[in-house]
Amino acid sequence: MNNKPALYGGIKTVEKSFPWPIYDESDIEAVAGVVRSGEWGNPDCGDIVRDFEDRFAEFCGTRYALSCVNGSVALRLALIACGVRPGDEVIITPYTFIATASIVLEANCIPVFADIDPGTYNINPDEVEKAVTKRTRAIIPVHFSGQACDMDRIMEIAGRFDLRVIEDACHGHGAEYKGKKLGSIGDAGCFSFQSSKNLTSGEGGMITTNDGELSAMMDSLRNVGRVKGGEWYEHHYLGCNYRITQIQSALLLNQMKRLDHQTKLRHENGTYLNSLLEEIDGITPLDRGVGETLHSYHLYIFKYDKSKFSNLSKKDFAEMLAAEGVPCFMGYPQPLYKQPLFREKNFMCYAIPGNVDYSKVHCPVAERACNEEAVWIFQNAMLGTRHDMELFAEAILKIQKYVNSR
Ligand SMILES: Cc1ncc(COP(=O)(O)O)c(C=O)c1O
Repeated sequence: MNNKPALYGGIKTVEKSFPWPIYDESDIEAVAGVVRSGEWGNPDCGDIVRDFEDRFAEFCGTRYALSCVNGSVALRLALIACGVRPGDEVIITPYTFIATASIVLEANCIPVFADIDPGTYNINPDEVEKAVTKRTRAIIPVHFSGQACDMDRIMEIAGRFDLRVIEDACHGHGAEYKGKKLGSIGDAGCFSFQSSKNLTSGEGGMITTNDGELSAMMDSLRNVGRVKGGEWYEHHYLGCNYRITQIQSALLLNQMKRLDHQTKLRHENGTYLNSLLEEIDGITPLDRGVGETLHSYHLYIFKYDKSKFSNLSKKDFAEMLAAEGVPCFMGYPQPLYKQPLFREKNFMCYAIPGNVDYSKVHCPVAERACNEEAVWIFQNAMLGTRHDMELFAEAILKIQKYVNSR
């Protein structure tokens, strides 16, 4: 019997590994073709960069797609192009990667944290509504883990208070809300192609939009403030060189051929894993959000209840599960506002009034998710087989049995 946890020398429940990134000769050839061409850069948007952008816009169903160096810069350019002014407030979730918040500070705006929904861990529209003030200019809903936010409600609130909506779809390549691709619903959508992401070239980013004015401004900002039809050394706006290369674009174009299949597979595996985990006492899969039609499962998240595991801490549980061969992690250790960056106000954002005090922020649902509940399984594991999903559930049961019989 395989009872002893792998962490203590027992046999691992899951023996196989889950490779990422996935590539074959066609990816190598795509990159080699660019290398041979000698046209590596992207001074005025190379052909392959443009092809990739056109393909991505078509895929998302948006009029424009603009590539840039990473997801953080995509968010930053989108926010600035939306016309925010120093001291404007931007409503964000505390349960996200730091970039969603730091780009707000970089734009000399004030991040205002609205708590997450306990069922989905996405920003809670009721909390967004409560957080709106006269100074609010934008909302950045993060489709966390590839699960769509409640976009109808968010767009309704934005419409009512005249706010811009920038979708952080850095986890949501190919995922859908009511049949629409994430990134195509708000004023702009932002994507990351960093190594761990569901579509990757190591680094890279993309902004999608249907708004011609926004697109022109973001195009300029990513290209040192140049404008279409202007001279090479003519700079209109405070931009920078945020362009990606032809090499990245060739790789991403080729990787896109796999995206639909991979997204569908993760979605099916996620649905199956939900059905298995909801049978385990003390484990609760996240709810599927209202209107979500395709989940990209950049992360598969479930809630852990230590009282059903002899009070084994979440951190220790995640460590035991990882040792069993399930690619997983305990997730964020704390909501963003508890990071030293915010607690100590270690930023040079001159627009933040002295009375803004992040030590007073309290988002109980996000705190519970970080401290006690949330466990993440990584997206590459969701590309496994149905049997792998069964083994993931088996590994959890094995740990439960072990700790409850000690
Ligand atoms: C939700 C979210 N937003 C933004 C980013 C930033 O993307 P990048 O690392 O490409 O700058 C990330 C990256 O992990 C992310 O997870």
